[in-house]
Amino acid sequence: MRRERGLPKPVTKPVIILPVATHRGHFITFEGLDGCGKSTQMEKLANVLRAQGLSVLVTREPGGTETGEKIRKLLLDTATSGLSPMAELALMFASRAQHIKELICPALADGKIVLCDRFTDSTEAYQGGGRKLGSAPVLALHRILCGNLQPELTILMDSDVAHSVERARRRNRTRGKGESHEGRFEQENRAFFGRVRNAYLALAARDKQRVVLVDARGAVADTHKKIVEIVRRKLKLAKTA
Ligand code: TYD
Repeated sequence: MRRERGLPKPVTKPVIILPVATHRGHFITFEGLDGCGKSTQMEKLANVLRAQGLSVLVTREPGGTETGEKIRKLLLDTATSGLSPMAELALMFASRAQHIKELICPALADGKIVLCDRFTDSTEAYQGGGRKLGSAPVLALHRILCGNLQPELTILMDSDVAHSVERARRRNRTRGKGESHEGRFEQENRAFFGRVRNAYLALAARDKQRVVLVDARGAVADTHKKIVEIVRRKLKLAKTA
């Protein structure tokens, strides 16, 4: 096709420049069903790493930045109704793109260990599996909007669907009145969470180098021990007491 004179050339390459390959820190993500105990384990791990004098940033998705937290409120609020799966997908990535630019990449460039509660694997599991959008649009958007930034290690906390969801629902019910109501996903049925879990297991099987499956059904202290050992090996940290 001939181009008219004077028209700008079509842009053929994506204009994304992220310092993905240049960072000095470590990017570790936590994944799993709602109520599987991620937050507790992340805090415990952060304490261990900090006790070794390491600089740790604990953050979460959706959210992590001021803009991201506004998007989170919209996404998780039970008052948000009729959101289409594609709009949900786009909002998850809007929050993530901001998070990467504003917080994750600068922290990694600074040499920090970034512990992130959920990342693109959540989108593949919840929107790809749960909402049945499939993995292809999730992975394509990740390449375009996130410069394909990959965690060095992902801890996938595997748990029972019924047990996890009941725990998450209970937690949301007991939240204070003034706190925002974050239960939109917990309202989904068991079949939804069954698809989420299957999608998680599939991506873990596909990406064995990065994703480590941890059985989260045992005691908190046992799970913590396993996670510390995995992280220690991955980051080649010295063994303390
Ligand atoms: P989170 O606060 O981590 O929930 P929990 O503490 O119960 O595990 O995550 C919020 C919800 O958002 C959770 O139900 C999963 C969902 N979610 C997605 O559906 N897609 C995504 O990409 C992300 C990051 C989260």
